[in-house]
Amino acid sequence: MITIPVELSERSYDIQIEAGALERSGVALASLGDVSRVLLVTDENVDALYTETVAAALVDRGLDLDVVVIPAGEESKSIEMANSLWERFLEVGADRKSVAVALGGGVVGDLTGFVAATYVRGIRFFQIPTTLLAQVDSSVGGKTAVDLPGGKNMVGAFWQPGGVLIDPNVLATLPADQYRAGLGEVVKYGASLDADFFGFLERNVEKIAARDPETLGAVVAKCCEIKAQVVSEDEFETTGRRALLNYGHTFGHALESALGYGTLLHGDGVSIGSLAAARLAKRLGENGDARFSAIDGAWVARQTELLERLGLPTSLEVVGRRIGDAPETSIERLVDLMRTDKKAEFGKLSFVLPTGLGECVRLRDVSPEDAAAALAE
Ligand code: GLY
Repeated sequence: MITIPVELSERSYDIQIEAGALERSGVALASLGDVSRVLLVTDENVDALYTETVAAALVDRGLDLDVVVIPAGEESKSIEMANSLWERFLEVGADRKSVAVALGGGVVGDLTGFVAATYVRGIRFFQIPTTLLAQVDSSVGGKTAVDLPGGKNMVGAFWQPGGVLIDPNVLATLPADQYRAGLGEVVKYGASLDADFFGFLERNVEKIAARDPETLGAVVAKCCEIKAQVVSEDEFETTGRRALLNYGHTFGHALESALGYGTLLHGDGVSIGSLAAARLAKRLGENGDARFSAIDGAWVARQTELLERLGLPTSLEVVGRRIGDAPETSIERLVDLMRTDKKAEFGKLSFVLPTGLGECVRLRDVSPEDAAAALAE
């Protein structure tokens, strides 16, 4: 088992990664101590595959369990669904000693975490992520949220889990598009924060494509290690350090939002957004900003090559669209959406841009013209 500590003083917890970990979920939950009831939240897809294993492991440790199954998909990350979970928790008698467990991907994790953060002013919460995206990103760091019709993750709370249990074996059943999209976040870590990891990914493309369990364990562990370090330095995203986890996200979110949530997978948006961010950095470098002088055509091509080798999209063609093919995907609309991004401040365009391999900075006042040019390339 690989254990990665997330150091957050009294909110510290461990990420445990082990093949077959689902069968140990009872031990992990019981170790939280004094658990009156476990509220296991999952979606219909994951329920069919893994609830039985997890439920058996929990019951085996003498834990009282209620299972709540929600519809799969981004639509479930709503205040209406949060309301139905709050009511269900009340109905089954959940109290402050209860623990909400998220068994699933990012939607289940973000929603369950938000409900845990708010029910009776906060109960404990535990993450068992089953998608690559959730294992390498959303299950770690305590960001919880639901969406508003006008914006993703607009209502939420920082609420750290009491632990994260990751079983890389579950990735074997992940649909191909979900697996690929998770790799968008994986490449993000290498390109923007860890050059050695980027090299590791380049050397292991075939094994990653084959979902080799040992390689996947190493990939997930490295991503969690990078994220745990960043989160422990800036838990509430106040110093700018944690914001660096958002490489590729400003462009990516705008594309996701322009097409309507659920059309473009988040990790696919991050992939396309990483390419646009690299082009923007290259452009700024060519225009005399010395911080970006290392981001030349070769840098952009190297990142593009890795994304493509991993089967990740570099354009909207992945969903049969093109930038500018309709009013909602026009460059003006995309720039407008970036202005209203949750990360934008005072309507200024904010981007995380590479300064070298595994290095990046946040720029908070990029001109709309430069952003538009990077999208148009
Ligand atoms: N996904 C970015 C963060 O957790 O800060």
